[in-house]
Amino acid sequence: MRVILLGAPGAGKGTQARFITEQYGIPQISTGDMLRAAIKNETPLGLKVKAVMDAGQLVSDDIIIDLVKERIAQDDCAKGFLFDGFPRTIPQAQAMVDAGVDIDHVLEIAVEDEEIVKRMSGRRAHLASGRTYHVIYNPPKVEGIDDETGEPLVQRDDDKEETVRNRLAVYHEQTKPLVGFYTEMAENNGKVKCHRVEGVGSVEDITKAVLAALSE
Ligand code: AP5
Ligand code: ZN
Repeated sequence: MRVILLGAPGAGKGTQARFITEQYGIPQISTGDMLRAAIKNETPLGLKVKAVMDAGQLVSDDIIIDLVKERIAQDDCAKGFLFDGFPRTIPQAQAMVDAGVDIDHVLEIAVEDEEIVKRMSGRRAHLASGRTYHVIYNPPKVEGIDDETGEPLVQRDDDKEETVRNRLAVYHEQTKPLVGFYTEMAENNGKVKCHRVEGVGSVEDITKAVLAALSE
């Protein structure tokens, strides 16, 4: 099964991705996590993208498309995958169409901007795995510590309020149009199914709605 998770920064894509990948046994492909790993390891890619990401802008389509094509050619993607944070622009989505990569489900997690600004200040992340927590809404078992590895949690460099507002503006301008792109695709060829789930409420309730949509 091939799934795209759409949603604004902080809508809860990463949070819900964990449950979807568990349920369907497919890998999570988060372009954001891949780029953060490159920055941490100071690879040529990481050095190139750091300033762009810290400003809340998008990395160029060429870089992202190459990264994703290379990733989905790996063996563990044979039975499907979950895209988290990709595609983010029409050219990225079109590149998958041109490469013959059919998608089964596109699921949008909908959250209002002001709710997102509130959430981001409390987010804590385990960068190596991409696991995220929230100091109030989704706390780790031990404050400041990742549940699974026992390693310390950090605040992401792009979670400052001003940067979050930039990321939201970029989302509305460049990524939100993908909802229309896939709705039109569903109407034209019927292969892809589009879903919209309300992303405000308990993590558990949202997971239920997400899994119900994907089982349609
Ligand atoms: P990326 O890593 O993709 O970030 P994003 O889309 O901005 O999304 P986030 O990871 O911030 O949020 P999320 O939806 O995963 O939310 P989470 O589950 O953590 O991209 C980062 C940057 O990389 C981009 O700005 C860009 O520069 C670059 N990039 C990446 N992909 C790219 C691409 N394809 N093209 C070009 N550039 C690209 O949840 C957020 C918080 O809310 C957490 O604290 C969580 O615990 C909490 N929370 C979750 N659910 C709930 C709930 N129901 N109630 C209350 N709190 C909740
Ligand atoms: Zn994420």
